[in-house]
Amino acid sequence: MREFVLKISRYLYHQAAKPLFFLFDPESVHNSITSLGEFIGYIKPVTWLMKKVSLTDDPMLTQTIGGIRFENPIGLAAGFDYEAKLTQVLPAVGFGFSTIGTITNQSYGGNPKPRLGRLIKSRSLLVNKGFKNLGIRKTLNKLEGKHFAIPIGLSIGVTNTPSLANQEDALKDIIETFEVAKNSTVPFSYYEMNISCPNLRVGVDFYSPEHLEELLIAVTKDKLSKPLFVKMPIDKSDEEALGMLEVIARHPVQGAIFSNLHKNKKDPALHPSEAELFPRGSFSGKPAEKRSNELISLAYKTYGGRLTIIGCGGVFSAEDAYKKIKLGASLIQLITGMIFEGPQLIAEINLGLIKLLKQDGFDNISQAVGSMKTN
Ligand SMILES: Cc1cc2nc3c(=O)[nH]c(=O)nc-3n(C[C@H](O)[C@H](O)[C@H](O)COP(=O)(O)O)c2cc1C
Repeated sequence: MREFVLKISRYLYHQAAKPLFFLFDPESVHNSITSLGEFIGYIKPVTWLMKKVSLTDDPMLTQTIGGIRFENPIGLAAGFDYEAKLTQVLPAVGFGFSTIGTITNQSYGGNPKPRLGRLIKSRSLLVNKGFKNLGIRKTLNKLEGKHFAIPIGLSIGVTNTPSLANQEDALKDIIETFEVAKNSTVPFSYYEMNISCPNLRVGVDFYSPEHLEELLIAVTKDKLSKPLFVKMPIDKSDEEALGMLEVIARHPVQGAIFSNLHKNKKDPALHPSEAELFPRGSFSGKPAEKRSNELISLAYKTYGGRLTIIGCGGVFSAEDAYKKIKLGASLIQLITGMIFEGPQLIAEINLGLIKLLKQDGFDNISQAVGSMKTN
């Protein structure tokens, strides 16, 4: 019965909802959908019904990582719920966890439009928001008094302003954001430190081992009471990524997320006619998949015993998610797959993972992590 309802939902999404949504400006559609999601989150009978279809409650998928219990490994990546509207509805969509943000110390109205676009042939989204968000204080105020049924994380980044032109000022800005979060009573479960947004106007970055070291010393100086994950860039060589991981592994960091958006317009996975439509911005979805998988594999081989790896980029099916898991990811995050395939994708992936795990003779997802033999 459940699989039948999911099939109908997929059919309706592809035949009716998606063609309609894709007629309108992506940012307006996003705002409408998230407002609708926020509203639905308050209607308990509706979320109860949604859970009947979407919730996958199977011990094969549960893991405890950094002291957090994840009922399933599929999370909503940073960037979709950047105004903290969806914490009450996402468990009913079937998600096992979700990240709010990226949030910064000061609010930001977003980079000049167009800052969101669809690349249908490339199965990708163009993103140039540059941390559009309400600021840490307003975001946490919105969440005050809420209970979360799944682990919720806060993605923190540097305020996107050219006035933060040196490392010292950028660090101060980030530390202030962490301080506000640390002093809040909102029951979020983990932090993500986003050092990899490719669309910022800030004069500094944290890609060099020296700058990253300074950042992690500052962020973890007063011990964080919740696990910290670092959101990694995708457009780095193996050598550069390993240099960053070497620094990360020396600090009290739980893990690394591979990866953020892709900037390379020449990537063969991007349809050239679509890439040229947008003067600025970076790409999600399928063009991010191959390199994300390579980086997951590299990180697992070198630091798999020390760091938890979260795989992110181009997951559109259970098979895509399972590949990342077998390459070394313990958890998966996504956005673009859900927009192209529909919200039932989350339940489909979880059910699909159970089948794939059984086929391979695993009792729990943790046994499959890193099980793919690569050179
Ligand atoms: C609309 C949009 C906004 C995003 N904003 C953020 C962000 O604020 N912080 C962040 O760490 N990643 C952000 N990302 C990147 C995603 O978290 C993710 O790393 C990337 O999209 C690859 O996953 P996907 O192919 O499943 O979308 C954004 C992605 C999209 C599509």
